[in-house]
Amino acid sequence: NWTGELIYEGKAKRVYRVNDEFLVMEFKDEVTAFDGARKEHAPSKGKLAAAQTVFLMGLLGKYGIRNHLVDWDGDRKILVRSLRMIPIEVIVRNYAYGSFLKRMPLVKSMTKFSKPLIEFHLKSDELHDPLITTDDIIEAGLASQEQLNEIMGIALRINEILNNYMASKGLTLVDFKLEFGFDKSNNLVLADELSGDTIRVLINGRHLDKELFRRGSSSADLVKAYEEMNKILGIS
Ligand code: C5P
Repeated sequence: NWTGELIYEGKAKRVYRVNDEFLVMEFKDEVTAFDGARKEHAPSKGKLAAAQTVFLMGLLGKYGIRNHLVDWDGDRKILVRSLRMIPIEVIVRNYAYGSFLKRMPLVKSMTKFSKPLIEFHLKSDELHDPLITTDDIIEAGLASQEQLNEIMGIALRINEILNNYMASKGLTLVDFKLEFGFDKSNNLVLADELSGDTIRVLINGRHLDKELFRRGSSSADLVKAYEEMNKILGIS
């Protein structure tokens, strides 16, 4: 059953409620950047991003990382477990890039960090997802210190798994974004997507991710890069 009531429509995804337990997440053939200020139709991008998410969630699942993926329709939709989402973006960084450089211009672009950095941003389009502290999160009642410790542990483990796999394919994992929720038994579960829209990955210094579009490439070139990423990752 790949339909239901539309409960959310974002820039690149739609979410449908199937029942109490399951949602369908639909990846749109759209690419946007700068909070939607730049937007283009991108035929077949939705399927490519869905395939990336399915493959990478599956990889993490093999290593025991609990995630929300249940099934894939082979096209632009995935069936996922419905969770109580924490409205936070967890970013893991291996190299200095992106918004890190904007707030910390003292570090040179693409400097490898001595250890992976983890940061938290509040999910808020209006405020442009501001960087927040763990104290902020605890005081706002979004998560406890124990839950944040668990989130950081899982985020670092995910980084290790993705890094090892990407490195084995000659790719450089620059940084990525994660989102988590709680299931009915209050287990922390990895949610949302893992795709070129949320991961920066390089091949010989060349982006295979949405950074291309942010930097002015066409949506057609972005789709070509996602196809290349899928080929390299071994996604059929
Ligand atoms: O822009 P910034 O450097 O903070 O992005 C860090 C990582 O998080 C990048 O891989 C980017 O694709 C991802 N990200 C995301 N969604 C956002 C912000 C960042 O997937 N809203």
